Amino acid sequence: MLVGNDVVDLNDPENRPGALHARFDARVFSPAEREALNAFVPDSASRHELRWTLWAAKESAYKVAKKLDPAVRFLPRDFEVGRIAEGRAVVLHKTGPFDVWVDRTDEWVHAVASFSAASAASTTRPVSGDVECLKALGADASRTVRELAREAVGRWMRLPPGQVQIAAAGRIPVALWRNQRMPVDLSLSHHGRFVAWAWGECAIPADQRGFLAA
Ligand SMILES: CC(C)(COP(=O)(O)OP(=O)(O)OC[C@H]1O[C@@H](n2cnc3c(N)ncnc32)[C@H](O)[C@@H]1OP(=O)(O)O)[C@@H](O)C(=O)NCCC(=O)NCCS
Repeated sequence: MLVGNDVVDLNDPENRPGALHARFDARVFSPAEREALNAFVPDSASRHELRWTLWAAKESAYKVAKKLDPAVRFLPRDFEVGRIAEGRAVVLHKTGPFDVWVDRTDEWVHAVASFSAASAASTTRPVSGDVECLKALGADASRTVRELAREAVGRWMRLPPGQVQIAAAGRIPVALWRNQRMPVDLSLSHHGRFVAWAWGECAIPADQRGFLAA
């Protein structure tokens, strides 16, 4: 199981409708996605929430696609949200499709995409993860999300968090125990006041468990 996640702070000043480039929607969304957005009044809260839900779904899918094919680039219109309802979405891409779980509050949207060669879309959530608010303004989000992810993965593996390391392969995070890849695929995200992480079980072939930093 490969996993990708993305969190969006819905109240971040840069994301407000007035702060966006006039052609933002046209650049980022497909005609069908724009039609869904246009069902809502401009500048309405519903349109704002849908815009960033679509975005988070695309970016979470991109993070999985990049693991499947390192040549993939994040061209948002190439990742089309084909269906979105009741906390689930499907993102279509030449490397996919990707099954995406979406959680939303008034403050954030969190999308978690997954891909498993074996699976049909699962009815039970195949991945774990969470969203947390940074405790202090200006806190180091990269560091905070790593600490939280180490704790969460450590709990799940019954290991002290101090024994879980998070390294990077390129920029993609990987979880290690004693310099060996753990049997999880991990994704991290941070935006505005929020950090989020997600992981799923993932068998690592024996010859790929040793980790050499890139
Ligand atoms: C992955 C990417 C979309 C994330 O952007 P973002 O919204 O700023 O960041 P998020 O907080 O959601 O995610 C960042 C985290 O994802 C992870 N990450 C970074 N690149 C990743 C990738 N390619 N795939 C999976 N995970 C990645 C890292 O853990 C990173 O956290 P860190 O900065 O603390 O190390 C962006 O960094 C990126 O790689 N853009 C693609 C560039 C591209 O293809 N351009 C072509 C356009 S023409």
